[in-house]
Amino acid sequence: MNAIAQYADWIYLVAAVLFILTLKGLSSPTGAITGNRYGMVGMALAVLVTLVIAPSPNFALIGLAMIAGAVIGVYRAKTVPMTQMPETVALMHSLVGLAAVLIALAAVHNTDQHHTTVQRIELFIGCFIGGITFTASVVAWGKLSAKLAAKPLKGGWVKPVQIVLALGMLGFGAHYFITESLASFWVMTGFSVVLGYFLIAPIGGGDMPVVVSMLNSYSGWAAAGIGFTLGNSVLIIAGSLVGSSGAILSYIMCKAMNRSLLNVIFGGGMGGDAAAVAGSGEVVQRPYKSGSSDDASFMMGNADSVVIVPGYGLAVSRAQHALQEFANALTAKGVTVRYAIHPVAGRMPGHMNVLLAEAEVPYEQVQEMEEINADFGNTDVVLVIGANDVVNPAAQKDKQSPIYGMPILEAHKARTVIVVKRSMSAGYAGLDNDLFYMDKTMMVFGDAKKVVEDMIKGVGH
Ligand code: TAP
Repeated sequence: MNAIAQYADWIYLVAAVLFILTLKGLSSPTGAITGNRYGMVGMALAVLVTLVIAPSPNFALIGLAMIAGAVIGVYRAKTVPMTQMPETVALMHSLVGLAAVLIALAAVHNTDQHHTTVQRIELFIGCFIGGITFTASVVAWGKLSAKLAAKPLKGGWVKPVQIVLALGMLGFGAHYFITESLASFWVMTGFSVVLGYFLIAPIGGGDMPVVVSMLNSYSGWAAAGIGFTLGNSVLIIAGSLVGSSGAILSYIMCKAMNRSLLNVIFGGGMGGDAAAVAGSGEVVQRPYKSGSSDDASFMMGNADSVVIVPGYGLAVSRAQHALQEFANALTAKGVTVRYAIHPVAGRMPGHMNVLLAEAEVPYEQVQEMEEINADFGNTDVVLVIGANDVVNPAAQKDKQSPIYGMPILEAHKARTVIVVKRSMSAGYAGLDNDLFYMDKTMMVFGDAKKVVEDMIKGVGH
């Protein structure tokens, strides 16, 4: 045991490197499984070493907690549907926040231990980030799972309340720092927990995915704070990795949705809410062309190149397996088929990548927006299936549009466009889409899965 204690920091270093390799692996679908395995080994190493070097661990309690956690975790992982992933993640973040608060409270109540100036700052910061993360994540979970109204909390009084709570939290934290008053630490914790609610309640349901990613980042910083409290280097490293990767992901998502990160963090106080500003979803009548699934499969079966743009509707109708079957049928006829993925297609980061991976679409057929945009001009047919905002040319052409500036898949540049959706109604942003009214566009109305199944039959003859 002493020998292990002597090498603990080295083993932690190995675990930290494995965590970095995990993130690297997770950055591409091909490396995701290996990446996850690195993470599992790294975490197992970190937990084992921590148990071995702990001064007087209560193995019974720790074992019980680990077994309970593992049972709940495995059950949840096996049963949660893909569509409930964002709220599940939010709930997990709330637990990290709560753990940070409880550990900080346990540490300040430990009278055997004197806390240095630096440790008091760490305790204070770790605890308030944990408190905010805890309630904010619970509210995000409530909104995403429709247990709380997705409508944002509005009113001129919200911002002053946020400011008073933030000042109260910092004030009592500073008082604890100077006097080591336990009462002040508790009051500061209370303020942070209430502030968590008031930071997220004003954010509309539509921005929740970015919020979940922000909370991911907060939970990482809270974990790093616990690492300082416990003097555990691997927790500091892992927390910082989660904190910074969550912040980068939030930034990327905001950029892809043309939203301001500050606006999202401060609940719409720094500008408009895209989904709220957008129209009601009603669409003015204009002429458009429509056709049948047979027409669509005939056109694609006779094309040289087809690019498929999947969107939220594909996920809703769970058409990914049928779609891949259709793509295989086209490939068998000599058609080059590729998939074009927009970073915010669907309702959570990587939504489309996960669906296509589930349907075992070969990775080389899947291309990101930056890779494929230049090719649309040379594409015979683009099949837009259950997607809308991510191919809306208004983002490039209409300065008045709430999505103006959002990067889009340039489907409108292809020779022919086929759009599969149930009606002419708007997508998530509530906007009409000029693509649907272009001369080269044919609408095919119906549930995505049903239409694709019909197209499979059509391409056969
Ligand atoms: P949307 O713009 O929401 O369009 C989806 C389209 O699918 C709808 O117009 C709908 O039209 C159609 N649809 C729904 N159910 C269908 C079904 N069963 N069969 C066929 N079609 C169906 O989706 P998108 O193009 O993927 O864009 C994503 C939007 O969500 C963006 O505005 C993005 O900013 C936002 N968003 C994304 C994220 C992330 S991280 N991915 C997070 C938050 C918000 P019908 O009703 O006519 O069928």
